Amino acid sequence: MTLLEAVDVRKFYGQTCALDGVSLRVGAGEFVSIIGPNGAGKTTLMNVLTGLTVPTSGRVTFKGVDVGGATPVRLARLGMARSFQLVTIFPGLSVGETLAVAALARLGRSARPFSALARDLEVRAAVDDVAALFGLADKLGRAARTLPQGDKKLLDVATAFALHPDVILMDEPTSGVSTADKTAIMETLVQAARRMGIRAIVLVEHDMDIVFGYSDRIVALHQGRVLADAAPEAIRADADVVRTVLGIAAPPATVSNRPPTGNPSPRTPLQ
Ligand SMILES: Nc1ncnc2c1ncn2[C@@H]1O[C@H](COP(=O)(O)OP(=O)(O)OP(=O)(O)O)[C@@H](O)[C@H]1O
Ligand SMILES: [Mg+2]
Repeated sequence: MTLLEAVDVRKFYGQTCALDGVSLRVGAGEFVSIIGPNGAGKTTLMNVLTGLTVPTSGRVTFKGVDVGGATPVRLARLGMARSFQLVTIFPGLSVGETLAVAALARLGRSARPFSALARDLEVRAAVDDVAALFGLADKLGRAARTLPQGDKKLLDVATAFALHPDVILMDEPTSGVSTADKTAIMETLVQAARRMGIRAIVLVEHDMDIVFGYSDRIVALHQGRVLADAAPEAIRADADVVRTVLGIAAPPATVSNRPPTGNPSPRTPLQ
């Protein structure tokens, strides 16, 4: 079942063609990674898929609904949430307050009349749940801006999870953190996705160990076009992708389809 679909999407910034006829489908149960060199159009594609950027032409639908120009609140209500390449933490808020903003946004859609107390309790329970999943439970009172980079990244992702989306899109959730932290972040978010019943993940990632360790399908972008869209094994065997995208970062043939270290999750992490 297709949840998210882009059909022949083009996006121009002036003369720059950031996306040049991209089509893509994300189905229920899939973990799809988008890879490509700097400037390939990955973030632009994420922005188009999440309605933030309206394509110059083409169409993006989520559950059959056109998402072009949809606000984050509308998207969250439809069941889509995202995290950003550059962490978007409110510097003045604590960790708990940051998660509470997302929990409130979600609970706010409830038609049930809430007493202030009931709402407070429900928000607090939602914050505690997501904080526990992301290992942030003992940091709820801490100012978000004082967290180490790895925890800032986790908080950013946790905030998106607090919206209880069906589909979550993440733009480089592990960038700027150490290799050991990258694996820990990925394990945390995959476990959280399973526990919360998230139905599909779209990930932009430069770390090929992570991409090949977790993805069911990999979409390779180059100069705004889809160079390949296939299972990891086929991507690794694709000479064009190896030359253009993977380059010297190509994972050695010995890399298995598992997370690099720690307690490996099986492939198809959402099932
Ligand atoms: N707001 C913008 N205005 C003008 N040009 C833009 C804008 N956003 C992106 N571009 C251009 O579109 C192209 C694709 O950029 P994009 O940020 O999507 O690449 P990316 O694959 O995410 O790169 P990176 O790996 O560095 O994050 C680049 O040539 C970039 O300069
Ligand atoms: Mg980018």
